[in-house]
Amino acid sequence: MFISFEGMDGSGKTTQVSRVISELRSHGHNLLVTREPGGTEVGEQIRTILMDKANTAMTARAELLLFCASRAQLVSSVIRPHLESGGVVICDRYIDSSLAYQGYGHGLGAEAVSPVLDFATGGLVPDLTVYLDISPEEGLHRRAQAALKGEEFTRLDAMATEFHQRVYAGYAEIGRRAGRR
Ligand code: TYD
Repeated sequence: MFISFEGMDGSGKTTQVSRVISELRSHGHNLLVTREPGGTEVGEQIRTILMDKANTAMTARAELLLFCASRAQLVSSVIRPHLESGGVVICDRYIDSSLAYQGYGHGLGAEAVSPVLDFATGGLVPDLTVYLDISPEEGLHRRAQAALKGEEFTRLDAMATEFHQRVYAGYAEIGRRAGRR
């Protein structure tokens, strides 16, 4: 089984993921936990480029392709092998993040982004996606508080409020279209 977690920045996703992990581990599941972007050596290097506040000139298309490059590496070298060996995979962010952030947030459009996601993943879609619904205002407030306490505040956190509002509306739309997943 392949489970992804999605939500706005500051939604508490990482906290909930770690709770689910301990619960599933206590039941003896063969669990693989991974995060996006990152999760492989190549992916972590791509993550550094994506999070770097100096890269303000990065275009939305370049950003999408970098996220997808990291994801392609993760899917073929980590996620698929683990699923094929019968394990459970939990991913902190996956394809819906690209749809919400690049497709809706940056306005590339779901129609343009979907085929790129399909190419990067070879069509691998989660069996279940847990979406933590928090308003962009509350999410940003929490992230700013965390930044005051010394947590990293990245290039993507620094995007304008309107950007986060479009991402939020995007997640709502993705949820409506996702059907049973
Ligand atoms: P991260 O530090 O993992 O944030 P969080 O703890 O909220 O998951 O940073 C990931 C950032 O990258 C987050 O702002 C969402 C964004 N993102 C995209 O824009 N597109 C994507 O495809 C993915 C995976 C993440």
